Amino acid sequence: MNILVTGGAGFIGTHTLIELYKAGHTAVVVDNLSNSNPVSLSRVEEIIGNQVSIPFYKVDIRDREGLEKVFASHRFDACIHFAGLKAVGESVEKPWEYYENNIGGTLVLVDVMRKHGCKNIIFSSSATIYGDPVEIPITENCPKGQCTNPYGWTKSMLEQVLMDIQKADPEWNVVLLRYFNPVGAHPSGRIGENPNGIPNNLMPYITQVAVGKRKELGVFGNDYPTPDGTGVRDYIHVVDLANAHVAALKCFANALAQGHNTTFIYNVGTGNGYSVLDMVKAFVRVNGVDVPYSIKPRRAGDIATCYCDPSKAKAELGWEARYGIDDMVRDSWNWQRQNPNGFSE
Ligand code: NAD
Ligand code: WQD
Repeated sequence: MNILVTGGAGFIGTHTLIELYKAGHTAVVVDNLSNSNPVSLSRVEEIIGNQVSIPFYKVDIRDREGLEKVFASHRFDACIHFAGLKAVGESVEKPWEYYENNIGGTLVLVDVMRKHGCKNIIFSSSATIYGDPVEIPITENCPKGQCTNPYGWTKSMLEQVLMDIQKADPEWNVVLLRYFNPVGAHPSGRIGENPNGIPNNLMPYITQVAVGKRKELGVFGNDYPTPDGTGVRDYIHVVDLANAHVAALKCFANALAQGHNTTFIYNVGTGNGYSVLDMVKAFVRVNGVDVPYSIKPRRAGDIATCYCDPSKAKAELGWEARYGIDDMVRDSWNWQRQNPNGFSE
């Protein structure tokens, strides 16, 4: 298939490009580079090898004319839609920017797609749409919850928008992938997560402490009702997550074969819950580096425990996570150690 990958220069997008090409697909990338560096795409091409050149357009998905030009030059079987703003804290400070970029951008994208007859989309959703989940492990039947920040609401609302569009026009197939906590990096160490400023997320914070960029990790609360009192999450290696997108492309072929299009929803996690201290200890054990930490107050909006039941994706897509916690901490460190300043060469 030829796939339009929006946000393809970012963390999950770059890893997905590699797995798409490995599976025999081709891709075109649209990214405005607001949170990424084009060097990441050169590194993707280097990893894929065979002198592959991935067409790249520095276009904002809110720019209708820019998107029209991309669609005029390529025919797409599907779109994997990663483009969006994702910093939870920033979204609380700048809600308008988050709603306008994530929701406004997706509305323009979907409109241009349908005008060009491309009605297959995989959307990056998030476990955050479950709010404080009413069941653990979380299945796809768990009701959506109250999000604690505008970023989360953009995901929750966009799920609804895409489901409504699919219902009104059954030529659409919509796949909602609800990611749990992506970490790790490509085993080559050539691409990985490259956050701007102070990392919000646990793993990039740990790697920046380990590499000496930050003094110590603050562990947000040790009084949660969890085995060691720190928050429990379902961390998933980004290469596994990337492969979930390749597997999800099957939804389109299956729908075509069955003559019935729909909205597909999958949790994408490992099904294992690890605490903050589990992650720190694994990182220190596997990599042999020190990660000083101290216990801090709870972070507003955090929940105690969040991990999924990933069995639906296994049963229907034949996808399951292959990498474990040791691979995640090893590959995160391998990337950070080799690229202390991210993609700035
Ligand atoms: P990322 O920031 O590394 O990648 C997103 C890319 O989208 C960036 O390259 C950015 O420049 C681009 N972008 C942003 N707004 C754009 C616009 N208007 N037009 C064109 N390009 C634009 O983030 P990521 O971690 O790779 O996340 C990819 C997607 O997955 C996002 O939608 C994110 O919300 C979602 N997601 C991420 C996580 C996570 O923890 N990383 C978890 C759940 C869901
Ligand atoms: C994990 C655990 C923290 C940083 C967020 C978004 C979610 C999704 C994934 C996009 C928690 C603890 C963290 C630190 C810490 N993103 N922590 N010290 O909050 O589960 O999910 O990223 O969709 O929407 O909300 O991930 O990595 O921030 O936190 O103790 O410096 O690590 O309290 O228990 P989270 P996280």
